[in-house]
Order: sequence, then structure tokens, then C-alpha cells
Amino acid sequence: RKTYRICTLPGDGIGPEIMAEGKKVLAAVGKRFGVEFACEDALIGGAAIDATGGPLPDETLDAARASDAVLLASVGGPKWDTTDPAAPRPEQGLLKIRKELGLYTNLRPVQIFSALAGASTLRPEVVDGVDMMIVRELTGGLYFGRRERFYDEPGAGADGKPGQRAYDTLEYREYEVERIARQAFEAARKRRGKVSSVDKANVLETSRMWREIVHRVHDADYPDVELEDVLVDNAAMQLIHRPATFDVVVTENMFGDILSDEAAQITGSLGMLASASLGDGVALYEPSHGSAPDIAGQGIANPLAQILSVEMMLRYSFDMGDAADAVRSAVTSVLDAGLRTRDIADAATPMECVLGTAAMGDAVVERI
Ligand code: NAD
Ligand code: IPM
Ligand code: MN
Repeated sequence: RKTYRICTLPGDGIGPEIMAEGKKVLAAVGKRFGVEFACEDALIGGAAIDATGGPLPDETLDAARASDAVLLASVGGPKWDTTDPAAPRPEQGLLKIRKELGLYTNLRPVQIFSALAGASTLRPEVVDGVDMMIVRELTGGLYFGRRERFYDEPGAGADGKPGQRAYDTLEYREYEVERIARQAFEAARKRRGKVSSVDKANVLETSRMWREIVHRVHDADYPDVELEDVLVDNAAMQLIHRPATFDVVVTENMFGDILSDEAAQITGSLGMLASASLGDGVALYEPSHGSAPDIAGQGIANPLAQILSVEMMLRYSFDMGDAADAVRSAVTSVLDAGLRTRDIADAATPMECVLGTAAMGDAVVERI
């Protein structure tokens, strides 16, 4: 029996609650498909800060590197939100593990489950047929640029007094843009053959370089793929105006962060948006949402983004297409049966069909 070693990182807030459901699904898939998933928890985020003083202990990084795949839930929370720039933050653990594992491609599939067409805040005819893949650059840009904060800068305060100054820098290297562009074009070839490259080339130098490189890669190696450039502000609007016309959307780190939360709502809830963070080595799978402090500890979080991240793991890391399909059809069948967590329920959902986190996980497992 083949054994896959999964490094599981429950993290903070709803993280441990949804991770439990991800593990249940892995166990069910293992049973049905005759493999074993050996899950081992490691610390990240606020939980790691509390236990060790830092958001990503070396042991976690070592465990991740030694695993066949990493499954993350979510990190962060008000407990660790501080204005002290010297204090460790949970989010730094996430950024560091992405960087250390070289996970420069973040795939965020935005798909409508037909049973959920009514759960979107957009009209059903607008969301009908939405099926896009956001390809977010994940290890460059503003998130990793030089930054600094000054507290006593001459003239930075009001009335010419000393005050604060801070900066973050948005920087990209040619190879970083080239490789993410290739990922987008490759993805498009397996889909509907269209890439929308999102930038702010009318203002930013990095964006002008981005656009030039994306077109060079396209013209040289992917002329068969349709390529459009969309300025990011327009993209934010088009996403809710004509979401079904997007196929692959490729963009830099922070634009991708923002646009993917927006796109998630097209599907009804951020609790539905899975993701895969890929590089050249071990990959990491993570829901796109955060630790949802507002509902943590209540057992009501939607575990489907976590479960659909497990689906992506089966597909991308283990080449288990049939198992991935089984997870997807189990989720589809649960939704078709009218079962909902609170975030995707509406006024017409009967009370007995509104499930908690664990019951939703069980409903999926029953169908695998
Ligand atoms: P969030 O994604 O945690 O929550 C935004 C909203 O969506 C909240 O109303 C929340 O209840 C809801 N939501 C999110 N996931 C849900 C789910 N599975 N089921 C039902 N509802 C869900 O974003 P936030 O509130 O801006 O951030 C909270 C914390 O999470 C912050 O500390 C932030 O840094 C962190 N964060 C972590 C990650 C990650 O670990 N990958 C991602 C985003 C934010
Ligand atoms: C995400 C999150 C993270 C990001 C934060 C928590 C660092 O918002 O995965 O989308 O911005 O990448
Ligand atoms: Mn985000």
C-alpha cells in the first residue's frame, strides 16, 4: 500500500476546525483508493508564536520539506494583531513557508457549483457558466520587497514637525514574470485557451515590464492562446460585470490576493475557494480564506474550501485524478442535496439543511 506523507498545518481561528474535515476526507479517499495518507501536524502562525515565539519553527519547515505535500488551513487573528513592528506576526509564517518552498504559482479556481448559483450576490444569469483560474504570482512583489518604517522623520508630521514615514517596494525580476506567465499559458491550453493578464501598466513600471514579458512569452511560445491585457481597476469591475468571459487570469501577488477574494464571492462564499501553491518541489494546498475570527470556535465554518484544496492536492501532487474527481462529485452531490453551511445558505434553506463544519465534512465523506 502506497503511503503519502502529508504535513498538516492547522494554524489559527477556524483552521483546526476545517483541517479536521480535510483529514477526514483524506482518510476516506485513502480507504476507497487503497493508499494511505499519513498526516502529521506541525505548528504555524499564531499557534507557533504561542508555543515557540516565532510563526514558523524550523521543525515545521523541515517537516514540510520531508513531506509529499503540505495541507494548510489558515493563520492569524486579533490576538496577534499588534502595532509593534518588532513583534512576530502569524502571517509571516505563511509568507516564509511559501518563499522557502519556492511556491511561486498560486492557482485559485473559481467555479460555480450549479446548486449554488443562487448563493451568489450576483444575479444567476451573470454567474452562469463562471469557470476561471486565477494564477497569482506568490513569492514576489510588495509582499517580499524592501520595507521600512521611521518614527522620527524630520518634516513628516503635521506643521513641519517630525513624524512617521514608511515604505514598501514592489519589485519583480524578469525570470519571475516569465515563469508565472508560462504557468498561465500552460493552464490556458488545458482549459479554454484564453489568458487575461492583469496589471497597472498605465502607472507602474513593474507592470510595464510585466506586460512586455507576458507578450514576449506569448508571441514566442504560446501564439495559439488568446491574450488580453486588463488594467487592474477595470479587472475588478469586469469580474462582477462579465465573470463568465474570464478563463485564466494571471497577475502579480497583491492584485491576485485582492481579486481572488472578490472572485470568490461570485461563487457564493470565500468558504468555497480552494487553492494550490506550486513550485518546483513539494507543494502546499490552502483555502484562499483566512482564519475567520468572527466565527472561530463555533463549529459553523464552511470546510469546503479546505476539502476542495485536498482535491487539488490529489490532482496536482499525487496524480490521483479519479480520487480528485470522487471528492469533487461528493461535494457536488452534497450541494445538490441542498445541504449548506451558514455562509452559503439562504432564506429558502430549510433549517435542518444548514449544517455545521463537522456535519458538512461527514456529508462529503459519506459520498466518497
Ligand atoms: P477571512 O478570510 O478570515 O474572513 C473574511 C470573511 O469571510 C469573514 O466574515 C469570515 O467569517 C468569512 N469566511 C472566511 N472563511 C470562511 C469559511 N470557511 N466559512 C465561512 N465563512 C468564512 O479574512 P479576514 O477576516 O480579513 O482575516 C482574518 C485573519 O485571517 C487575519 O489575521 C488575516 O491575516 C488572516 N488571513 C489568513 C489567510 C491564510 O491563512 N491563508 C488568508 C487570509 C487572511
Ligand atoms: C491569502 C492571505 C495571505 C496573502 C495573507 C494572510 C498573508 O490573504 O492567502 O490570500 O495575502 O497571501
Ligand atoms: Mn487573501
